[in-house]
Amino acid sequence: MSPSPFSKLPVPKPDPLFAIAAEAEAAGAAAINGTLGIFMDEDGKPLVFPSVIETLSFLERHLQTFNYSYPPLTGLPKYRDAVTKLICQDDREVVASIASTGGTGALAINLRLMKMLLGEGNNDVLLPSPAWGNHPPVCKWAGFNVVETPYIQGGKASVDGVIETVKKHEKPFGILLQVGCHNPTGLDFDREQWADLLDALQKKECVVLLDFAYQGFKGEPETDTEPIRMCRERNLTTLVTWSASKNHSIYGLRTGLAAAFVKDMTEKKTVEGTYSSISRGLHSAAPTFGQAIVALVQDRSQDTWREDLANARAVMKRKRQLMLEHLPASFRNSLSGYGMFAMLPLTVDQVNRLKHDYKVFLLLDGRINIGGIPEAKIKDLCDKIAAVL
Ligand SMILES: Cc1ncc(COP(=O)(O)O)c(C=O)c1O
Repeated sequence: MSPSPFSKLPVPKPDPLFAIAAEAEAAGAAAINGTLGIFMDEDGKPLVFPSVIETLSFLERHLQTFNYSYPPLTGLPKYRDAVTKLICQDDREVVASIASTGGTGALAINLRLMKMLLGEGNNDVLLPSPAWGNHPPVCKWAGFNVVETPYIQGGKASVDGVIETVKKHEKPFGILLQVGCHNPTGLDFDREQWADLLDALQKKECVVLLDFAYQGFKGEPETDTEPIRMCRERNLTTLVTWSASKNHSIYGLRTGLAAAFVKDMTEKKTVEGTYSSISRGLHSAAPTFGQAIVALVQDRSQDTWREDLANARAVMKRKRQLMLEHLPASFRNSLSGYGMFAMLPLTVDQVNRLKHDYKVFLLLDGRINIGGIPEAKIKDLCDKIAAVL
């Protein structure tokens, strides 16, 4: 019998994040799990925002009449309207958009669009590193060559190296930037740094892709859109990928949006048609249940939602503060950021010892999901970290 074609496949490497998350899960309730980017409650369970629970109670009464047919390829119009309003409050802007399967699906769609915009032979996408672990694979999947350019200098966010790389780049290129609450570092560019970088980009032929996975986790949702506004002010070709996973606590419902700022209604029609073809070839339309939830939260429970985000921000701030109080000064820079993540200055050996000796699970590069650790366990976590230093 001839060998099975499947036997020719290379042995796949497990995704490092999901592999360590599974180990943490298997270690039981006593473990401290700082792996997957999920915002947890004090019992270590994924926290569902009260605004979403309120919306689910409403939806529950309408489940039998929910529209289960195929949606338009671009997704539910009310959802797209609600999210584009969150992204660019100014309704004079013309925005093309399509619903996607989470922020990752939005990245896939926008990267494919970016490839088409840059044209044949322009295959480079610049990526400040350390990058979110899934950025390089999705960029490669879309046909890009990833040019990583370090952005942390002396433990702080710096644009100098990125600007150098931008200046040196001759051919048209794409650049993928995180809007805020950087994953994995938590360290974002400040206003001045954004301005310097965007000014440098303005002198180049490039497409800027802004990954906006944490709207409302740093400041008010509108304040968090500042880098998007700054790109628009400079007339940069700007694409945005947005995720509802964290800021509506619906991770598994895989809800996101890909958007592009366009010149006029003709361009909007063209881009939405292009988005539709990309999505059709990928998976047809994105799932609708999460879209319905987001549209309803924004329509009926917005005040509660804003309180939910304010609470999440306050919790993350308190946890960072507690860690700063209980860890040595050498951890200060790494904890000075925003959002769920920080990259602790730990060696691979120290991370492994935390896992084996203390059932503390972090990524090998020291990334911790602060939002995943109950506040009541933070001191214990710090004591355990101190024990491996
Ligand atoms: C920076 C960044 N972009 C995109 C995503 C993807 O979000 P989603 O889970 O909605 O696909 C994440 C999720 O962790 C992220 O951290």
